[in-house]
Order: sequence, then structure tokens, then C-alpha cells
Amino acid sequence: MKVVLLGPPGAGKGTQASGIVEKYHIVHISTGDIFRKNVKEGTPLGQQAKAYMEKGELVPDDLVIALVEDRLKQEDCKNGFLLDGFPRTIYQAEAMERLGIDVDKVVDIEVGRDTLIGRATGRRVCKQCGETYHVSFRPAKAEGVCDKCGGQVVQRADDEEETVARRIDVYLTETKPLEEYYEKKGKLAHINGDQDAKIVQEEIFKALGD
Ligand code: AP5
Ligand code: MG
Ligand code: ZN
Repeated sequence: MKVVLLGPPGAGKGTQASGIVEKYHIVHISTGDIFRKNVKEGTPLGQQAKAYMEKGELVPDDLVIALVEDRLKQEDCKNGFLLDGFPRTIYQAEAMERLGIDVDKVVDIEVGRDTLIGRATGRRVCKQCGETYHVSFRPAKAEGVCDKCGGQVVQRADDEEETVARRIDVYLTETKPLEEYYEKKGKLAHINGDQDAKIVQEEIFKALGD
């Protein structure tokens, strides 16, 4: 199964991804996570991506496409994959098709702007394993310490309110047109993301045919 998770910043793509990949035995590919790892390690790719990410802008298409093309060639993608945060422009979606990569379903998690700002600004992530928390909705058991691995739980560099607002605007202009793009292909499933995360998960499973 090849699935794309679409949705604005803070919609819950990362949160929902873990349950999906577990159930369908596919790999989770988050372009944002890959970029953040490269930024942390100071690789050439990270150095190129850093300034765009800090401003809440998209990393240039060609950089992202090369990265995803390379990742999807790896052996573990043979059984299928879940793309989280890619494609993010029509250009990226078309490039993926030109590379012969077809997707079965596009899950669009929809959440209103006010909820998104609260979710992203309250988000905390584990520096070590990437586990996601929220100061109100999903706090770590011990403040600042990851439940899973004991790592340090911190705020993401692009989760300041101003940057989140910019990311939402970029989503609306650059990424939202993909809804219509995939709707026309009969691949889009709309999911109301503004409800309990467990219910969102159930609705996604239903859309993917359980
Ligand atoms: P990326 O990392 O993909 O960030 P994003 O799309 O902005 O999405 P987020 O990760 O912020 O949100 P999410 O939907 O995963 O929400 P989460 O589950 O964490 O991209 C970052 C940057 O990388 C981009 O800005 C760009 O620069 C670059 N980039 C990446 N891909 C690119 C591409 N293809 N092209 C160009 N540039 C690219 O949830 C958020 C919070 O809400 C958490 O605290 C969570 O606990 C909480 N929460 C989740 N669900 C619920 C719920 N149902 N109820 C209550 N709280 C909830
Ligand atoms: Mg995410
Ligand atoms: Zn951790």
C-alpha cells in the first residue's frame, strides 16, 4: 500500500503516521523528519534546507524530489510506504508520477487555523527518538523527559507562533491545490482532524479499507 498524508502544519500527520505504518506494515517517510536530522548532523543537505525551514518556507522542489527518489529506491519500501509531508506542491506530485511512483490513497487531515496554531505552538518533541508530545493534550509523564526513551523533550525550531502562521499560509497557497489534484484522480479521503486522535485514527483506517 502506498499512501500520502496531506494536511496543514499541526494537523496530526506525524501523530497518525505511527499507527498507520504499524497496522499496514509499511515504512513512514517524513521529509520534515529527514530534513531535521540532516540539519542536526550538519550535512550539506541540512545546510541547504535550514534557512528555508526556520522561516517556515518550503525547501526548493528539486532538493526534496531528489531526496524522496533516493529514499523510495531502498529495499524497505518494497511493501509500501506512507509519505508524510510529500508531495507538497503540484510540481512535486507530477515529478513523482514522472518517476513512475503511483500512490493508492491520499488521506487529507483537515483542521481549522486556530486549532493548528495551538497544536503546533504547544508541541514538544523528543530530541532522541522523535516522539511527539503536547503541553496540554499529550504531556510527557515527567516534564521534559521522553516516556519512551528518556531523551530530552524540546520545542521544534519552527514552532514559534509567527513561523507556524507562515507555514499555514504557505500550506494554503502551495499545498492545498493538491486536494483538488487528487480528488480528480479519485484518490482523496477527507478526514476531520479536529477530534480526538483515536477517533481520527479509526476514520483513517476506515478510509484505507481497514
Ligand atoms: P514537516 O515536518 O512536514 O512539518 P509540517 O507539515 O508543518 O507538519 P507538522 O510536523 O508541523 O505537523 P503534523 O501534521 O505532523 O502534526 P503532529 O502530528 O506533530 O515540515 C517541516 C518543514 O520541512 C517545512 O516547513 C519545509 O520547510 C520542509 N519540508 C518538509 N517537506 C517538504 C516538502 N515536501 N517540500 C518542501 N519543503 C518541505 O501534531 C502536532 C501537535 O498536535 C502535537 O503536539 C500533537 O501531540 C498534537 N495533536 C495531534 N493530533 C491531535 C488531536 N487529534 N488532538 C489534539 N492534539 C493533537
Ligand atoms: Mg510532522
Ligand atoms: Zn524519545
